[in-house]
Amino acid sequence: MSKRIAILTSGGDCAGLNAVMRAAVLRADSLGWEILGIENGTAGLLDDPPRYRILKPSDFDGSVMRRGGTILGTTNSRNPFSYPMPDGSKKDRSDELIATLKSLEVESLIGIGGDGSFDILNRLTKQGDIKFIGVPKTIDNDVSLTDMSVGFDTAVAVATEALDRLQPTAASHDRIMMLEVMGRDAGHIALHAGIAGGADVILIPEIPYKIENIAKKIESVKKGGRNFSLVIVSEAVKTPDGKKHQVVYHGGETRYGGIADYLCVKLAEHTSYEARATVLGHVQRGVDPGHTDRLLASAMGVKAVELIAEGKFGRMVAWQNRNIVDVAIEDAVKDCFTVNPKGMLVHTARSLGISFGD
Ligand code: F6P
Repeated sequence: MSKRIAILTSGGDCAGLNAVMRAAVLRADSLGWEILGIENGTAGLLDDPPRYRILKPSDFDGSVMRRGGTILGTTNSRNPFSYPMPDGSKKDRSDELIATLKSLEVESLIGIGGDGSFDILNRLTKQGDIKFIGVPKTIDNDVSLTDMSVGFDTAVAVATEALDRLQPTAASHDRIMMLEVMGRDAGHIALHAGIAGGADVILIPEIPYKIENIAKKIESVKKGGRNFSLVIVSEAVKTPDGKKHQVVYHGGETRYGGIADYLCVKLAEHTSYEARATVLGHVQRGVDPGHTDRLLASAMGVKAVELIAEGKFGRMVAWQNRNIVDVAIEDAVKDCFTVNPKGMLVHTARSLGISFGD
């Protein structure tokens, strides 16, 4: 039977989104199905006229699978249940959105998103009685029940490369170089890149620290004969008195940022070093996917379509123990997957002499 499936990307972009879409389109095409791409996440369905286009295998010829970003566009600030209106008010536009989606005569929806997007998409599709499949993507890697989300591995590669580039300049100037990375409330990027990039100190939201302990580690590195230190800090790390470093943007959207600068000032007070901050920001997202993300994206895109073929819905595709499986969306969004302070990678880091400042 011929079907029409809708697909959208939702939330912050990351590397590998185009590769997920390519895999889903190629698999759907092999079954004789059509994929309709919705533009700008759910927001595209609230535009007048709604924004969508048919995605064909030929759309993914050439470089698209290799490119960062999303050819469909996305949004992480237009929740249809609380949609920002031009007059500054918020409006529930979920019924409007569902009516538009139904008018497109799609059989089911594949949403490529993170936990926040899944929450919204799951609510919407339940309310509209629409069949839904989720594909996890986020540089933060904070989606539960999948070992990895699309985009994480490439973001870690960028952060690791940044540490590699900070090392020679740190050594040349006898400095502490502090790298602030994204990750929202999960410290996965900092932990992975910190180990891979040879950091002396890793600061993550899951492990409370003291400035004095970081200073102690840095001075001990100096005593050991090395003239510089590398510190990686996750954006959601708080000040020792529990204050979050955040910026409030126009429209009230709050984002993390600034903890590295704060810590550099403090460390210069507590050590004999100069300290400089680098905020890596969105370069962790707007990058071409590495091979691991292309592979994960391809396997997940294929599986999403196959779940629809099997008539399994309300599921999230997941990578577990070197295999693609599916789990209930409800279970996946229950908890945010954060770093386990007693887990294997924290143990590995400590065994390498890396300090968490605790
Ligand atoms: O969730 C992905 C993420 O990149 C976070 O790591 C970061 O805190 C946030 O999005 C930044 O959002 P924006 O693109 O709106 O600045």
